[in-house]
Amino acid sequence: MSRQPEVNPARLLRSVADFAAIGATPAGGVNRQALSVEDRAARRLLAERAMARGFGVFQDEAANLFLRREGRDTALPPLLIGSHLDSQPTGGRFDGALGTLSAFEALEALADAGIETDRAIEVVAFTNEEGSRFSPGCMGSMAFARAGSMSDWRGAQATDGALLADELAATLDALPQARVRPIGHPISAFVELHIEQGPILEREDVPIGVVTAVQGTKWLEVAFSGEAAHAGTTPLEFRKDPMGAAAAAIARIQDDIMPADPEARLTVGRIAAEPGSINVIPSRVSFTVDIRHPDAATLAAMEQRVREECEGAGERWGCRTAIQQRVDMAPGRFAPSVTAAIEETCRALGIRCRPMVSGAFHDALFVGRVAPAAMIFVPCRNGVSHNEAEFVSDEHIIAGARTLLGVALRLSAA
Ligand code: GLV
Ligand code: MN
Ligand code: MN
Repeated sequence: MSRQPEVNPARLLRSVADFAAIGATPAGGVNRQALSVEDRAARRLLAERAMARGFGVFQDEAANLFLRREGRDTALPPLLIGSHLDSQPTGGRFDGALGTLSAFEALEALADAGIETDRAIEVVAFTNEEGSRFSPGCMGSMAFARAGSMSDWRGAQATDGALLADELAATLDALPQARVRPIGHPISAFVELHIEQGPILEREDVPIGVVTAVQGTKWLEVAFSGEAAHAGTTPLEFRKDPMGAAAAAIARIQDDIMPADPEARLTVGRIAAEPGSINVIPSRVSFTVDIRHPDAATLAAMEQRVREECEGAGERWGCRTAIQQRVDMAPGRFAPSVTAAIEETCRALGIRCRPMVSGAFHDALFVGRVAPAAMIFVPCRNGVSHNEAEFVSDEHIIAGARTLLGVALRLSAA
């Protein structure tokens, strides 16, 4: 006998706390970077919980982890729900984990209620969504959607010196119970629940965002090479100072690009100087530039502007300028069939919702290229994310999981 499936709030909140303990930081966040020991521990815990419930456990060559609850018709492609488990170095406990754990809760709720869905439902934890330890982000979902291949990134080096190929192999080996499956298996649709990571839902007091699109992102790495020299003895006209070039370029792009366009985003998040000595003019300064815009042409123009400003600054300071593009994610639109299912579910549950565009990139951006996809957003306090202070109220966690469960029920019907 089956009954109406219900999210178990206590179990979901406990699960969020259990995973927040893996890589916990003293300030209440998590450091569970992609393919690290902590990331492996989180995958293992999820896989163990899946096995305890009798769900199938699979991983592909990108170490994307899948937990499968069988449906009535095993020939139908499964519905995919989930997100990621990796975090920023000083990340919050909800970015990625909330979507993965809410999806797992939906699977458990269906099992508890004895519901047999027409098609199988699989929970996914995609590999390296954040892109902080190994660039680019969304590696697992890009590989899944054939927008890239792990072999392209095997040589990627982490800021801690680790090589992606080694860390990927160790992560795959850490889960010998998982059956290995070919990457990119057919799915019927993908739904990803995530925290908004911005202030709109909280400000408007709306518990659910129905994400219709994701803005585009480009990551550039700019390096200025000059000449190391003595800080005290080298007059201005003798200097080839890459820090002067970096400071000038950063000031120009910060001052011009965002103030001129309220939709534009520009962030310089990492900067390094070599040799990094207080009284040596550096020989090399490199920094990252993250630029975003919902419009592809405007984003391309922003990239051009960054390149021109950097090259101009390099020239003025007598330095060689090298600019490499690390990420190029075109803006994406989600499938109306999936956003409609989210809206209908919210209506049926009596939960207020509103359409919105995501400022962050997500695995759904890439999966949406090969299957109908969309996202469910829940509010986070003060819009703060990529920060240990990230916080989502219990009430919003439960509303999100109930919405995801309802959408999964609708979309798992043949
Ligand atoms: C995802 O983590 C992003 O930076 O948008
Ligand atoms: Mn995320
Ligand atoms: Mn993130």
